[in-house]
Formats: sequence, C-alpha cells, structure tokens
Amino acid sequence: MDEELNRYILMNESKGIVPGYPKSMVDILGNCNIAAVHGSTHKYLRGALLSIIGPAMVRDQLLTKIDHFMRSHLSNWDNQVLDIQRKTKEMTFLLSLMMVVSMESSRISDSIMPEYFKMVSGTISLPIDLPRTKYRRGCQARKALVSILREVMEERRKSQETHKDMLGVLMGNDDESRHKLSDEEIIDLLIAVMYSGYETVSATSMMAVKYLQDHPKALEELRVIFETARLATIVNGVLRKTIQDVELNGYLIPKGWKIYVFIREINYDPFLYPEPLKFNPWRWLQDQSLESKNHFLVFGRGTRLCPGKDLGIAEISTFLHYLVTRYRRGESRKGKGG
Ligand code: HEM
Repeated sequence: MDEELNRYILMNESKGIVPGYPKSMVDILGNCNIAAVHGSTHKYLRGALLSIIGPAMVRDQLLTKIDHFMRSHLSNWDNQVLDIQRKTKEMTFLLSLMMVVSMESSRISDSIMPEYFKMVSGTISLPIDLPRTKYRRGCQARKALVSILREVMEERRKSQETHKDMLGVLMGNDDESRHKLSDEEIIDLLIAVMYSGYETVSATSMMAVKYLQDHPKALEELRVIFETARLATIVNGVLRKTIQDVELNGYLIPKGWKIYVFIREINYDPFLYPEPLKFNPWRWLQDQSLESKNHFLVFGRGTRLCPGKDLGIAEISTFLHYLVTRYRRGESRKGKGG
C-alpha cells in the first residue's frame, strides 16, 4: 500500500487520471452524471451539487428535514422483528426522495421506488442488452424514473409555486440558485444524489446498528460512523482510468488503462489502525488527526472528495440517535433481530 501513490492518483485528474466507472453504471446514471464528466463540466456540476447537499445546506435546511423525517419514520418500530437491512434501505431511499422533491414525495414514492431499486441493481451488472437482463431492466427503470421526474418538473413550471427542496433550488425558483442547468443535467444530478447517498448511508446505518449491538458503550455517533465505514469498508475502492499515458512511480501506465485504488486494504492496515479488525470508535478520539491523514480515504480525496459527507453523517447520526433513544433491542425467537 503506497499512501503517496494513492493520493497522487486521486489528486491528479488534470494529468489524465479520471473516474473510470463501468459502462453499465455510466449508461444508467446518465451522460451528465457527475462521475461521467471531468474538467470544467465536473467543476460546474459539482458546484451545483454542493449548493443542494453541501455543509451550508445541511446546516440551514436539511438537518431539520432529516430530524422531522426520522422522528416520524422511526415512530412505529416497536414490538416487531425488523430486517434492519431492508429497513435502512427503504429509509434512506424515502429520506432522499423527500429532500429531492418534498411536496410530491409521498404521492410518487410508490411508483418511483420499484424503478429506483431496479435501476440501482442494473448499475452493477454486465452491460448485456437482452430482454430480462439486469442491465436492460436497469436502463428501462432509468427511463421510467426520468419520466416521473420530468412530469414533476413540468407540473412545477405550470404552477409557478416556490419549492424549498433540492429540485426547487436547481430549477432556479429559489433565491439561492446561481446555477443555470439544463433539464437533463438537473435530472442526472438528482439521480446522482439519490444513488450515491443510498448504498453508502444505508449500509453504514445497518452496520452501525450491528456494531453498537456488540458495543453499547460506543455511542458517540461521529466516531461510530467513521469506525463503521472503515471496518465494514462501505466503499471498497474507487476506480480511475487514464485518458493519456501517465507515469506512476516510474512505471508507464498506458492511455485507456483502469486503476483501482483499493480502500479496503488501507482500512485494514495494522500499522495505520492497530488491531484493524476490532471495532474501536475510540481510536478516532485518541488520535484526532486520523481523519485528516492521507490514508483516510473513506470519503475519497481530491477533486472527487465526497460532497455528501456532511449530509451522510447528519442522516446516520439522526437515525442512530432516534433508534437508541427510543428503542431497546430484544432477541427474536430465531435469535436474530428484534
Ligand atoms: C457514509 C456515507 C458516504 C460515504 C462513505 C461516501 C463515500 C464516497 C467516496 C469514497 C467518494 C469518492 C468517489 C471517487 O473518488 O470516485 C464519494 C463521492 C461522491 N459522493 Fe459520497 N459517500 C457517502 C455519502 C454520500 C451522500 C449522502 C451523498 C449524496 C447525497 C454522496 C454523494 C456523492 C457524490 C455525488 C460523489 C461524486 C463526487 C464527484 O465525482 O465529484 N455521498 N463518496
């Protein structure tokens, strides 16, 4: 594991090392998707993205919405056996839909949710365009999702009402909007928000519940989130491709090659994290500089550093807060969940 080399790869997009995610993902998430663009297009799309999910937005608007959502979403979980994986997935999807289109979310959630899940599953599939393949289904689901979002946009244009949500900001009927985007760009940004914040937040929430079950004393949410993301390695690695010949550590990497920065191996390095397989959220407290170290790649680094970091942390912390303050866990008959 070469810390400096990883850093170099993630910091040098301008030298021809750009994101290299698979074809199925790029096709389904759209041509204007943030992971498919680089250079000046990436810069302005990222600016627009930060205006809807960045730290200022989290502080001024989203935190209240997340709190309100979690209070009501976690209000009837008592006396049932819960499949925490299914619950956290559903919760993360509904929460992001509510932040994207507040007013319309309850009306469209039933029609959009099955399409959304098909779309997600299509992004991690072989790009074989035949009937009933995951890829074909994913492409069809994207079309359905796009048409639902387009309809909402048209209704909003007709009604000329102001909406204080992510779509409202991007459509420019809000004072905060500085970004003039095409409808395609708006739709792909919203899909990026729902997609990138989905598996990451739901898996971290689920694994945090599991680790907290074994370590009930570890209830300092921020450290729990970092430690969960590290130990469960929520993001296994990030993919890049070279768009020109690049030299790395004296080796020539030809144009068109893929580079995988393997985060899991770094997360389990015993020199960086003593006893790496142990859930120890206190390690983040003992060494407070751990988060700013070069090897901390849980949220990526450089030009692609996760713009949803604060939002993700706010969502997971609020979820954990309401879960542990409202519920006591009991064993189900099968000895699991409950
Ligand atoms: C625990 C939660 C999260 C983790 C561990 C995480 C991790 C990451 C990582 C490692 C990257 C870098 C990818 C790369 O370099 O190719 C990234 C990028 C990104 N994340 Fe997150 N993320 C989380 C939550 C979120 C949330 C909640 C959102 C949105 C609502 C989000 C949106 C994005 C987007 C759009 C990018 C691409 C940025 C770009 O290409 O400029 N993430 N994330």
